[in-house]
Formats: sequence, C-alpha cells, structure tokens
Amino acid sequence: MTRILMVCLGNICRSPLAEGILQFKVDPSKIQVDSAGLGNYHVGELPDKRSIQVAGENLIDITDQRARYFEIADFEKYDVIYAMDRDNFKKLMELAPSEIAKMKVKLILTEVFPDENLDVPDPYHDSIYAFRNVYKMLDEACDSITKKLNYE
Ligand code: 4NP
Repeated sequence: MTRILMVCLGNICRSPLAEGILQFKVDPSKIQVDSAGLGNYHVGELPDKRSIQVAGENLIDITDQRARYFEIADFEKYDVIYAMDRDNFKKLMELAPSEIAKMKVKLILTEVFPDENLDVPDPYHDSIYAFRNVYKMLDEACDSITKKLNYE
C-alpha cells in the first residue's frame, strides 16, 4: 500500500480536488489518498461548493471529504506529500522533523514540469473558471503520477 497526502492551505479547494482526482485514477487496494490543510480555518467543513461542482462535472464525487488540519504525524503516515504551491512546500519543509520527512515533500506540478517551480494557484477568491483551471492542472499532474509510478 502506498499512501499519498495532498496538502494546500484550507483543505477545501485544491487538495480535496487533488485527492478526488488521484483516488479516481488508481487502484484503491494499492493506493490510499488523503488531503489536509496547513491552516485550520475550515476544519470539519465540506470542500468548497465550486470544487464540488468542478469535480462533479468530471463525474467525481468529493462530498465525503471533510477538511482537516495537517499533523506532524502525517510525515510518518504518508510515503509522498504533495504541496499545491511553493508556500505550502516551504511550510511543510519547516515542519518536517527529519531529512526523511523532507524527502517525502514534493511540489505537485513538478510531476508535469520537473524543472519549474510552478504553483497550483489558490482559487479561493476567484471564479469557477479558476477552479476549472485548477482541475485541469491537477488532472495532468495525477495522470503523470499514476503513469510514472504504475499506480493504475
Ligand atoms: P485551498 O484554498 O488552500 O486550495 O483550500 C483556500 C481556502 C481557504 C482559504 C485560503 C485558501 N482561506 O484563507 O480561508
């Protein structure tokens, strides 16, 4: 079993989409996907309505998800921890208790553009179009992850 954690700030917009998309593409008996936030403002909440809508447009249901706060124990529990943007990456590196923990943290879009430090932009204050753009970026990243690691 490989365990993958998707991390953003609120755990209501980007990382719930990343979780839903990757889980949809892989064999759940081999890969377990979860998500968490580095801020605790939305703990216990459903994903943002716009993330639910965009996932639904792509036949993925993310309404069983609830936002949770990232925990230091997650560095032990997960094999790979994907940060949605450079701020999330930096924060995770600050929190990482060991070199092994640091090695687990990756910026998710490096799976598509390995030599660029690209962000999945925070769509929270933006429109549904920004959420569709986020979906597209995460869909490509999750395709690369599944292909590269033969997770299908
Ligand atoms: P997310 O988006 O990190 O993709 O879940 C955000 C959601 C909420 C806030 C910031 C980002 N917020 O500040 O409440």
